Amino acid sequence: MLTQRYPGAMRAMHWLVAVLVLATWPLGMVIKFVRDDVKLGFYLLHESLGLIVLWLTLVRIGIRLTSEVPKSPVDGALAMIAHAVHLSLYLMLIVMPVSGFLATNAHGFPLVWFGIVPVWSPRQITGDRALAFHTA
Ligand code: HEM
Repeated sequence: MLTQRYPGAMRAMHWLVAVLVLATWPLGMVIKFVRDDVKLGFYLLHESLGLIVLWLTLVRIGIRLTSEVPKSPVDGALAMIAHAVHLSLYLMLIVMPVSGFLATNAHGFPLVWFGIVPVWSPRQITGDRALAFHTA
């Protein structure tokens, strides 16, 4: 029998990532408007939450590839469009944190996750293009 619902792990990942993106995104948008004495805190929170989005997305893709999921309720071109939209959303969930991470490192601010865990940084990668993409 075909499965009717997405597995619990996928539903949990869906909401977790959604909540994190809804927190990370506006934090990134307001960084340039906040007072200088709190700016670094905003950067740290935005970047640390964004990095969780990246790791959860990779786990989520792993779960998706190994799970049985319900058949799409639509067929033909509509199903293809829905598939393409889903793929591009997954892609953005990877590209946004990676571009932010590369940009911040290349500008000489390696991330210390929540101020506790230093994250290895590929400093030699040029940051301008990554930053331009991230803030486009
Ligand atoms: C889901 C993940 C992420 C989303 C959706 C996101 C989104 C954004 C947005 C909307 C902005 C504001 C762009 C603007 O001012 O035009 C921003 C800025 C920024 N983000 Fe992210 N971001 C994410 C993850 C990250 C990560 C992981 C890092 C670094 C480790 C990062 C570093 C930055 C930096 C440094 C800025 C400020 C750029 C500037 O100086 O204007 N972001 N982000």
